[in-house]
Amino acid sequence: MVLRMEFPSLFTFLILLMFTLSSSDSVGNVILSHRKILPTQEAVTSYAVIIDAGSTGSRVHVFHFDHSLELLPIGDDLDFNKKVTPGLSSYADVPQRAANSLIPLLEAAENVVPEDLHHKTPLKLGATAGLRLLDGDAAENILQAVRDMFKNRSSLNIQSDAVSVIDGNHEGSYLWLAVNYLLGKLGKEYTKTVGIVDLGGGSVQMAYAVSKNTGESAPKVPDGEEPYITNLVAKGKNYDLYVHSYLRYGREAARAENLKLTKGSANPCILAGFYGTYTYSGMEYAVYPPISGSNYEKCREMALKVLKVDEPCSHPNCTFGGIWDGGRGSGQNTIYATSSFFYLPKDVGMFDAKAPNAILRPVDFEIRAKRSCGLTFEDAKSAYPLLWESRVPYVCMDLSYMYALLVDGFGLDPWQEITVANKIVYQKNAAVDAAWPLGTAIEAISAMPKFEPLMYFI
Ligand SMILES: *[C@@H]1O[C@H](CO)[C@@H](O)[C@H](O)[C@H]1NC(C)=O
Ligand SMILES: *[C@@H]1O[C@H](CO)[C@@H](O)[C@H](O)[C@H]1NC(C)=O
Repeated sequence: MVLRMEFPSLFTFLILLMFTLSSSDSVGNVILSHRKILPTQEAVTSYAVIIDAGSTGSRVHVFHFDHSLELLPIGDDLDFNKKVTPGLSSYADVPQRAANSLIPLLEAAENVVPEDLHHKTPLKLGATAGLRLLDGDAAENILQAVRDMFKNRSSLNIQSDAVSVIDGNHEGSYLWLAVNYLLGKLGKEYTKTVGIVDLGGGSVQMAYAVSKNTGESAPKVPDGEEPYITNLVAKGKNYDLYVHSYLRYGREAARAENLKLTKGSANPCILAGFYGTYTYSGMEYAVYPPISGSNYEKCREMALKVLKVDEPCSHPNCTFGGIWDGGRGSGQNTIYATSSFFYLPKDVGMFDAKAPNAILRPVDFEIRAKRSCGLTFEDAKSAYPLLWESRVPYVCMDLSYMYALLVDGFGLDPWQEITVANKIVYQKNAAVDAAWPLGTAIEAISAMPKFEPLMYFI
């Protein structure tokens, strides 16, 4: 992981947070385990407003919590949200317009938070993949315009770290927090928590809790990289969290890596009848299939090369690309797989498209990969009506890659059941997005003055 010194890194943010917490006297497990609910606290509810500034659009989430940080409804939802397109990075040269594109989100959020709570309601924006790719000062100029716009227009609580670029490790640890929160796992033994695998466009994240011993014996990483282990306290329980973000192993990045292997010649992962180009991160690749069309066995070999499963491993055990595997303990007995692990199987009909989540096995990805690799581009368009046409040529490539990633990369048993999730039903109530903004909201609320910290990173 490249540490971006120009923005507050997760690490410095956590240190700052710890500092804030240590200076109040309500820190730690002791207070949490002797919690006294005072009558005045009963009435306290808190809101948090989190903007997820992604590559294709920006989405605001408003969360409403009671005094013990249980989610409360806002209207009919537990997660009020609203999206605008395009993303901030589309306004690369006009930072003011980038900032202004968020005004409708800010206004919508301010309308649902009661006015007398505005000054106590944290507002945060996390920019992900899109902004990370911009050249030079463009990203910082946009973030600064957003900070100025927030200061000029918003009555919400804006801390100095409110607007930042967040990296894959941050996404991974906050997603772990959100998913375990929604499932009611926080405060339980680490062996009862679930692990997450998040397949984004540019990177794939894995996070799961490990034993104290494993945490302490984790390999050191070179200077400037994010450590393998993040420590946090949630609901009075200490967790050692293994988190790793594999850059260039996301769904779209992996396509580019795959196409690099065939260097402009026919690629056995591309469906028969498709001739075109693929652009990623400023590079363009010629895309066409062999005369015989796509072939699962050959495409699987390509996927294994993309994963670099044979890279030397200087740790006890590696996943792929020479990355330590975290010891594979009980914290990953149950896996929730998100983002593309949910969307692609949904779009190719592997489960009911209306379901918020579904149980699949890695082998289901292999079965569907074999089937899709046997189709022509035209057949696949009619077979997968939910799949955007621009994604159809890559359906064999993507599914083969996802199977290889789970089984050959992360070492899952092909028959192990995993949950692919977009949303998770919270306390039999309503489904909430399984995404990092909820984790960020929980942390931001926990850090507010007079609030007993439910969770903090160490
Ligand atoms: C914020 O207000 C200042 C001073 O009124 C103004 O110069 C600036 O353009 C404003 N910025 C935004 C983003 O609205
Ligand atoms: C490494 O992997 C092997 C095979 O899965 C396993 O038996 C062994 O316990 C692992 N070692 C460590 C230190 O994780």
